[in-house]
Order: sequence, then structure tokens, then C-alpha cells
Amino acid sequence: MIRVLFVCLGNICRSPTAHGVFVSLIDEAGLRDRIDADSAGTYGHHGGAGADRRAVETARLHGVDLSAHRAQPVVRSHFSEYDHIFAMDRQNYADLLELCPAGAEHKIEMFLALAPHLGIDEVPDPYYGGASGFDKVYEMIHEASLALVDRLRADNKGMSR
Ligand code: 4NP
Repeated sequence: MIRVLFVCLGNICRSPTAHGVFVSLIDEAGLRDRIDADSAGTYGHHGGAGADRRAVETARLHGVDLSAHRAQPVVRSHFSEYDHIFAMDRQNYADLLELCPAGAEHKIEMFLALAPHLGIDEVPDPYYGGASGFDKVYEMIHEASLALVDRLRADNKGMSR
């Protein structure tokens, strides 16, 4: 099993969206038995909260269900449990590096580095903006998630389909 963790600040907007979009692509690709994913936030105070209703609604319009999401903080054990940890922005990346046990740093990557054609390296925090921010964020996340499925397939050539 390949395990992927998506990380943002609050774990209520960006990383739950990335988790939901990625899992729906994995389902479509028939790779659900090979790849698992979850999300977490560097800021622990939303623990147990559902995803932001604007993120839930944007995802729903794309056929992705975030209703079961419950926010959780990133913890040190995540660095051994997961193979790949994707940061939504540079602050998330720096916070992850700080929390990371020695030797696991290579697992941390910037999520949008998967989609260089977007010409942007961070998923902007949509929390304080309007609904259009959520649409843009959704599109970026979708592009990077497509690229991630391709990369995991290429890295794990034995993987079916
Ligand atoms: P997220 O968005 O990191 O994409 O989940 C945020 C959610 C909540 C807060 C900040 C960002 N907050 O400060 O409460």
C-alpha cells in the first residue's frame, strides 16, 4: 500500500479537498486497493471539525463528497505512517520540516510541484476569500492530483491499470 497525506493549515479547506479529489481519481483508476490517502493540518485547533461548507459545496459540484471529513492535526507518527506528504503552501512545508523526525524529510514535497504547468507553487488559502477562491483552488488541486496519480503509477510500475 502506498500512503499519501495532504497537509494544509486548518485541515478544513485545501487538504480535505485534495484528499477527496485524489481518492475519487484513485477510485476511477481502480487503484483503491493500492493507494490510500488522508489529510491533516499543521494548526491543531480545528480537530474534529467538518470541512468548510464552501469547500464541501465546491467539491460536491464536482461529484466529490467531503461530508465525512473530520479535521486532525499533523503528528510525528504521520511521518512513519505515510510515504508521501504534500504541503499546500510554503508555510505548511516549513512547519512540516520542523515537526519531521530526522531522516523523513524526503517524504515532504510541495503539492503544486507536481503541476509545474500551472506556474504557481502554492495553493492559496481560500479561507478568508470568497467562493471564487474555492473554485480556483479546486482546479489547482485537481490538476496536481491527476499528476500525482500518474507519478505514483510511473514510480510503481507493477501497479495494475
Ligand atoms: P485550510 O484553510 O488551511 O485550507 O484548511 C484554513 C482554515 C482555517 C484557518 C486558516 C486556514 N484558520 O485560521 O482558522
